[in-house]
Amino acid sequence: MYDIQGVNKELRSTSELLREGIRNFLDGATALPGEVFRDEEVFRDETQSIFLHEWISVACAQAVSNVGDVFPVHVAGYSLLIVRDKKNQVRVFYNMCGHRGSPLVSEACRARGGLLSCPYHGWVYSLNGNLVAAPFLNRSREDSRADDEQLSQLGLVEVRSTVWRDIIFVNLSGSAVSFEDHIAPLDRRLEDWPADELHPVSATECEVSANWKLAAENFVDAYHLPLVHREICSGFEGALKQFGVSLSDRIAGMVMPEGYGSVEEDSKEKSPIFSKLRGQKRTHIETFFIFPNTLILVEPDFQQVIVLRPQRAGLTHETFANYVVSEGSFWEAHSELSRQIDRDSLNVNDQDIDLLEKLQKSRSMSVASQTQVAPEWDQTVSEFQKIWARCFLEG
Ligand code: FES
Ligand SMILES: [Fe+2]
Repeated sequence: MYDIQGVNKELRSTSELLREGIRNFLDGATALPGEVFRDEEVFRDETQSIFLHEWISVACAQAVSNVGDVFPVHVAGYSLLIVRDKKNQVRVFYNMCGHRGSPLVSEACRARGGLLSCPYHGWVYSLNGNLVAAPFLNRSREDSRADDEQLSQLGLVEVRSTVWRDIIFVNLSGSAVSFEDHIAPLDRRLEDWPADELHPVSATECEVSANWKLAAENFVDAYHLPLVHREICSGFEGALKQFGVSLSDRIAGMVMPEGYGSVEEDSKEKSPIFSKLRGQKRTHIETFFIFPNTLILVEPDFQQVIVLRPQRAGLTHETFANYVVSEGSFWEAHSELSRQIDRDSLNVNDQDIDLLEKLQKSRSMSVASQTQVAPEWDQTVSEFQKIWARCFLEG
């Protein structure tokens, strides 16, 4: 007979071994075990221990820029529906009909008449999640319309959400600290790059055959810039001055104090820069992770956001969004410049995706546990890994 108990025991011990390895990493004895980047069991645990409880980003609000826009996303096993309602508010619901659980929408669309209709049996919802019609719910020809009391108990399940610097965040468990407290250290840090001066350029959806953590680590890794992105960082000299900043137990970053100055400007036109920027900040490039899955970069004239939506251990969907600084009608007159900025940054992102997919393959070998960080360069990468390890073990 099949020994299910033995199998379960084996599964438990494998998992315990891995947890032991993660604890050893936190004690400074070993590198983070390679399995955490490729193991589906780890991924399943992450969806509970991390993605359920933290403030996670799901998309950018520019994806639902008009009232009635609907944008479905999958993130770490959760299927969500982002809408812009009639009051111009971004709201997030589970993408699940209250009747038999059918997804309401499978691709981005505009809700006709401000209504969402379930494709299974036709229940109709308004954009604030209320059920407004359920055809023949009472199975009566004379009384085909369900009464309001019946309907009011059958709305969509809404998720705690907020928008910050155009990034849509949700907290699925509802138990995380207030978003304001969570983001306050970074909000203060970015005071001179104010969100109300941002002008959205684009939000591109990409698929990366790599673990989401590798993408997060890569974003705060200055060491790779001179080799992988020569066109934005021409030599190690520029990258040498980088330093790490730790803002909270969920947010850290990497600053290149002369990063912007080292960018070769091939355009005659200069984009407007943030109006409050003074002194040395006018040459800063600052990149941050907001644990677990949000990446943000600011330059004097630019913001970039990457939202990582893990699909499985080796597959991540990302929203890659660009913003410039608005100033009167500058961008109406310089649309080619904004397209150029967009092309250049997408090119850099493609270089990263190529690199990450190769990295995922090499990290799939058991010998990958023997990789190690370079302490002088990888301080923010290490910080990300430590936050991940603590949250994973505690969750
Ligand atoms: S599952 Fe949506 S109406 Fe039945
Ligand atoms: Fe990169």
